[in-house]
Amino acid sequence: MIETPAAGGHSAPPRGRMMLDPAGEPVYGPRDEVDLGKVAALGLPFWLAGGYGTSGGLGRAWAAGAEGIQVGSAFALCRESGLDPGLRRRLREQAASGALQVRNDPRASPTGFPFKVAAVAGTLSEQEVYQARPRLCDLGYLRTPYQKADGSIGYRCPPSQWTPMCVRAARRRRRPTAAACATDCSPR
Ligand SMILES: Cc1cc2nc3c(=O)[nH]c(=O)nc-3n(C[C@H](O)[C@H](O)[C@H](O)COP(=O)(O)O)c2cc1C
Repeated sequence: MIETPAAGGHSAPPRGRMMLDPAGEPVYGPRDEVDLGKVAALGLPFWLAGGYGTSGGLGRAWAAGAEGIQVGSAFALCRESGLDPGLRRRLREQAASGALQVRNDPRASPTGFPFKVAAVAGTLSEQEVYQARPRLCDLGYLRTPYQKADGSIGYRCPPSQWTPMCVRAARRRRRPTAAACATDCSPR
C-alpha cells in the first residue's frame, strides 16, 4: 500500500527533518516522491492511496501498474460511515462548493504523525473551541477522572467509553495518582 500525504487521517511525516511551511504544515519534498515505475518493476502487487478515491483515480492507479486503490475520505463521508450525519452533510457541502479547507496538522495527533483536520465552524478545528474543550485525562487512562472530597479519584467514565489504553491500564490495576489528575482535571 503506497499512500501519498494527501490521504485522509494520519500520514507519514516528510523524510528527514520536519520543515513547516508558513501555514504550519509539513513540507514534503523530492525524497517523499514515490517512483511508481520502480515499484511496479519489483513485480509485487501494490495499491495506491491518498487522493485516488475519485472517478479517474482507479484508472491512474491501474495505468501505474497498481492492483487497485485504497479509499478513505469518500467512505468517511458516505451514509454508512459512523460520522455524525450533520457533520457529514456540512463537510460534503463545503467540499462540493470548493470551500472545504483541510490542513495537515503536525500537532493534532498524540501519535506525532501529521493528521488531517477539516475546518468546520463550531468544531475542534477552531482554536477557540479547542481551547474551551472539556479537559480529558491527559494520562490517557480515563476520560473524566475527578477528585473526590477525601482526595481519592473517582471515575464517571462508563467502561463502554474506555479507550483501549484505559482497558489496558485497568487490567494492570494502574491508576493515575491524585496529584497527576489534579494538574489537569478538575472535579466535575
Ligand atoms: C477518517 C479516516 C481515518 C483513517 N484511519 C486510518 C487508520 O486508522 N489506519 C490506516 O492505516 N489508515 C487510515 N486512514 C487512511 C485510509 O485507510 C486511506 O489509506 C486513505 O484515506 C486514502 O486516501 P483518501 O482519503 O484520499 O481516500 C484513515 C482515513 C480517514 C479518512
